[in-house]
Amino acid sequence: MTTTPPARNGLRLGPVEALLAQQAPDGSSGLRRSMGLWQLTALSIGATLGTGIFVILGEAAPLAGPAVILSFVLAAVTALFSALSYAELAGSIPVAGSSYSYAYATMGEAVAWVCGWCLMLEYGVSVSAVAVGWGAYIDDLARAAFGSTLPEALANPPGEGGVVNVPAVVVVLLAMALLLRGTRESARVNAVVVVLKVAVLLFFCAVAFTAFRAGNLAPFAPLGVAGITAATSQVFFSYIGFDAASTAGEEARDPRRDLPRAIMLSLVVVTAVYCLVALAALGALPWRELDGSEAALADVLSRAVGGTWPAVVLSVGAVIAIASVVFTVFYGQTRILFAMSRDGLVPRVFSRVSGRQGVPVANVLICGAVIAVLAGVVPLGELANATSIGTLFAFALVNAGVLVLRRARPDLPRTFRTPLFPLTPVLGIAFCGLLLFGLRGTTWLVFAAWMLVGAAVYVFYGRRRSVLAR
Ligand code: ALA
Repeated sequence: MTTTPPARNGLRLGPVEALLAQQAPDGSSGLRRSMGLWQLTALSIGATLGTGIFVILGEAAPLAGPAVILSFVLAAVTALFSALSYAELAGSIPVAGSSYSYAYATMGEAVAWVCGWCLMLEYGVSVSAVAVGWGAYIDDLARAAFGSTLPEALANPPGEGGVVNVPAVVVVLLAMALLLRGTRESARVNAVVVVLKVAVLLFFCAVAFTAFRAGNLAPFAPLGVAGITAATSQVFFSYIGFDAASTAGEEARDPRRDLPRAIMLSLVVVTAVYCLVALAALGALPWRELDGSEAALADVLSRAVGGTWPAVVLSVGAVIAIASVVFTVFYGQTRILFAMSRDGLVPRVFSRVSGRQGVPVANVLICGAVIAVLAGVVPLGELANATSIGTLFAFALVNAGVLVLRRARPDLPRTFRTPLFPLTPVLGIAFCGLLLFGLRGTTWLVFAAWMLVGAAVYVFYGRRRSVLAR
């Protein structure tokens, strides 16, 4: 059932009721309502704990020294403001499609398109980035188990001494196969993996703390405030994903109650784990020794603690943990395209659901192909930066969405309200802006090109074919 929403102030708006009407309680959106609070929280944690902590810590530590621990706290604060806004919107507009749908309901079709286009960086490109991090740990494991690694040509993208990053492509294809089997089963697998990866990180802390030396943390901030800020922009990547539950609004059993809780709960768990891991890592190994380390946490264990088995346990855990990020974020991307397609902004094929399991098969296959190619041929740094810039823009729009919706629809039932309104969403936008300006010029160029392509697709396709146009 679709109602045709009115145009207000010349904007094409998709009001909240019209969006909610697209998915009746009988599940007429075609997706199955099978996820409870725990599974939604696991979806968000699953999408978050991955390459950022296992790999990027090694790149961020040399920027700030031991004060990288503070960078994790600052990145968490940035994430927190946006998380509060996500929680409010997810509780009032519990549909699939995350911030794209919130922008659609609050700021109109064109802004929603910009948001959806940014989300392809936060989700689609991020899957490729995470898959590359997975490859680094596979290499580490191969070295530990067989004493040799994959040939350079098959483990790196062009420009970094390789031809194609085979492990990264393989993990994307595995996630695709799992997604084709349906959400119910995959959400269960994900919940188990989340427990495992939190356990592996706690194992890391327990072992690393045995080698803790307070002297390794002094001086605490050898590279000053500038170093801490640069490291914050880098480690922000590790928090991306806490909002993933918001992509599952139509597969949640009680979305209004559970989505806000799942988003906040996952951010709290992830922040606590990251701060502990950073403290344990920097306390165990002098920060200069982390420079350039790809399998960073495994390196801390093998260099600071010695023996091979703790590092191998850690690497096995990392391989499973990072694979689950690939899976959950991939899932999120398909559901965002699902929502955009239902609104007519991208071709219908993305919202065609098949089989008893209610899987958008063509959507999964097309996303899988594009993500696998990116993972195979683009370096991690480029992918991670593109992910961060897209995410920060999407977060800023979500904060703006809360400001707009409170004014436009004060009557709307809200299961969660951001405290200290309007200060928190305004601070959310300010923090996103701060981290955006910490990103490199080349990242901005890539982003500008991506947005230009997006504008062309919207003008020549989406705007003409959208549900609101009709
Ligand atoms: N936050 C996700 C990760 O660290 C993207 O892998």
